[in-house]
Amino acid sequence: MSVAAPNPRENQGAPVPRIDARLKVTGEARYAADVPLNNLAYGVLVTSDIARRQVREIHLEDAGAVPGVLDIISYGEIDGIQKPRFGNASATSLGPLHEKAIRHDGQIMALVVAETFEAAQEAAAKVTADYQVDQASASFVSPGTETIPAKGNTERVRDDPAVGNFETAFAAAPVKIEAEYATPTQHHNPIELFSTTAIWAGDQLTVYEPSQNVYGFRAEIARQLQMPPAQVRVISLYTGGGFGSKGPMSPRTAIVALAARRLNRPVRCVVSRMQGFTIATYRAPTRHRIRFGATTDGRITAFSHEGWELTSRVDNYVVGGTSTTTRLYGYGAVHSKVNLVKADRQTPGYMRSPPEVPYIFALEMAMDELAEKLGMDPVELRRINDTSTEPIGRKPFTSRSLMRCFDEAAKAFNWSARNPKPGSMRDGDWLIGFGCATAVYPTNVGAATARVRLSANGRVLVQSASHEIGTGVRTVAAQMAAEQLGVPFDAVEVMMGDTDLPPAPVSGGSNSTASVCSAVLKACQQLRARLFEAISKSGSGPLAGKAPADLDIANGMVVGDRGSLALGDVFKALGAGVIEEYAEFIPEGAPPDAAQKLYDGTSTLVNGSKRGKVQFAFGAEFVEVRINVRTREIRVPRLVGAFAAGRIMNTRTARSQLMGGLIWGMSSALLEETELDERNARYVNRDLAEYYVPVNADVQDVEVILVPEVDHDVNPAGVKGLGELGNVGTAAAIVNAIYHATGKRIRNLPVRLEDLI
Ligand code: MOS
Repeated sequence: MSVAAPNPRENQGAPVPRIDARLKVTGEARYAADVPLNNLAYGVLVTSDIARRQVREIHLEDAGAVPGVLDIISYGEIDGIQKPRFGNASATSLGPLHEKAIRHDGQIMALVVAETFEAAQEAAAKVTADYQVDQASASFVSPGTETIPAKGNTERVRDDPAVGNFETAFAAAPVKIEAEYATPTQHHNPIELFSTTAIWAGDQLTVYEPSQNVYGFRAEIARQLQMPPAQVRVISLYTGGGFGSKGPMSPRTAIVALAARRLNRPVRCVVSRMQGFTIATYRAPTRHRIRFGATTDGRITAFSHEGWELTSRVDNYVVGGTSTTTRLYGYGAVHSKVNLVKADRQTPGYMRSPPEVPYIFALEMAMDELAEKLGMDPVELRRINDTSTEPIGRKPFTSRSLMRCFDEAAKAFNWSARNPKPGSMRDGDWLIGFGCATAVYPTNVGAATARVRLSANGRVLVQSASHEIGTGVRTVAAQMAAEQLGVPFDAVEVMMGDTDLPPAPVSGGSNSTASVCSAVLKACQQLRARLFEAISKSGSGPLAGKAPADLDIANGMVVGDRGSLALGDVFKALGAGVIEEYAEFIPEGAPPDAAQKLYDGTSTLVNGSKRGKVQFAFGAEFVEVRINVRTREIRVPRLVGAFAAGRIMNTRTARSQLMGGLIWGMSSALLEETELDERNARYVNRDLAEYYVPVNADVQDVEVILVPEVDHDVNPAGVKGLGELGNVGTAAAIVNAIYHATGKRIRNLPVRLEDLI
């Protein structure tokens, strides 16, 4: 079992506890719906219980008669609200109250506002409607869906990566495999429910909402309500889990803001767990067809990856994971194609490691099948196909420690004890299986801004509107400032999650540590330059006349080679009490107006550099499963992952993210699926009793190894993201281990005991 705070190795930062750990465990941290307000009114959403219909009439009279009801907003009462614009900051283009049409299960039909939450809930239950029910098609197997190529529908998939002639190479390959895989609908289910609290003061609107994207929300709220963004403030001091579901805004926000304006009092709407399954996004179900051609000694000469993803009728949301799978190994010829299947569902969206979780699952399952066909150890197959340049554009990786991860993890796991023959390892009533897979995630870096203030007393304030979604971004930003300004960690205060602060990108795509730390680093460098410049120019004191390049700050002192000066004295000499620097960090390859775009609510994430390189973080995951010979119960006694992600700012928070990822990967492999009732296109298991997630009893030994890696190309902070790395590949490793234990190859997730009977 690994320790919670691993000792830092090369290029790894101290495992300081989270800056907000105490606030969180004592309940002092205020989440969006915790903010106390006077004269608050309570909103409850009315959502549809049918997936597709035309609404003839909605009946609000009974609801309106419930004592305490203040207002009901429904069809035809959304004057002045623009429909959402699908994209960066909005989950959908569907304006649920703009037309009397239901396009998916659980669509918003009204907002009831009352003096108390209970009254609003009672009234919401009394809303009824007359409608014409239409047959809905909501899954891959329903008739009436429409399949279109994903290409050209979104910026995410600019092309279907390909190189060489796949068909020729595949036909000529002496060893071939072809297989299909499927992953299910999943929902994020962050513990903190979705909520919106809207407060007007004159024409100024303040919205408290759990968010991964406050500037994006501000822009979209302002657009929908047709007001200047400067009159909107979005505050999200803590976000109790998001995993992508709080990255884009749901249509409820503008409706709640409208209610608050109509009533001229603050309105809070907390969305129920059940409604959260349909008013926000989810992970689309996917299907895959993989074809491999290889030489008898294991070199992959042909690779084809075709994917099918479900989306809504109204929006073409694409996960599009072939951009990673086609670049992972040193293949010969490559073909890929992503298709969208349009159905009567709400628009899906990103969910923890969105493209890689399903696409790498398919690829890494197929790698295991190919290794078996070749009679080769699966680790060796990956070694033979390891590469320092990606095969599509022949661009080098900025760094790639994949095989070092495999070597460290294999050793810790004792992989060499594996007998490759399926079903050959057993301990009493338990069949034992060992499996492994690659983890990979692109290093996304976004334009970000930060303001850093240093006071004469050695206190530091860092401001950047990133989001503390549980990852520890406030903590690592404080570490960066403390290191650069030579002050203790606890002298640094960090403010985030508020559009009154300088903007940072959407907290998605695992970019935040890299982007925010790069902006903080830049602001600190500017501060140091100002201090050193002033000292250098000063005519007296022990450091007078020293070149700025020969000065440093440490332990509250500015130091040169022959003397030092306390920070307080430096400020005295400067005649200042506080100095402050604002910095805009624009990553290489981002447009020059990326900072302005950030203020306007659009994040720019890049994952390659101008130097013509591609950047990814890597890992290797090893799993032991045990399957009861009689009951077929599946247990996972050991998960071992080794990961390399450039500079690690904090080994404690890094391990925490990666461990969470491994556990979530296990959840994907064995538990999670949102079940759809094909008859009426509705989700069946819309709560945490029936939507299975792992509990502590499901999780035994989880070991995270942080493999040292130095990468100066990715960004000035040298950081690769790792928030989403951990759960990539895990499901494949587990299902590969299940095959090893049982000889049964299950290609659809999740694998449950009934699949093994
Ligand atoms: Mo994450 S799915 O990029 O919020």
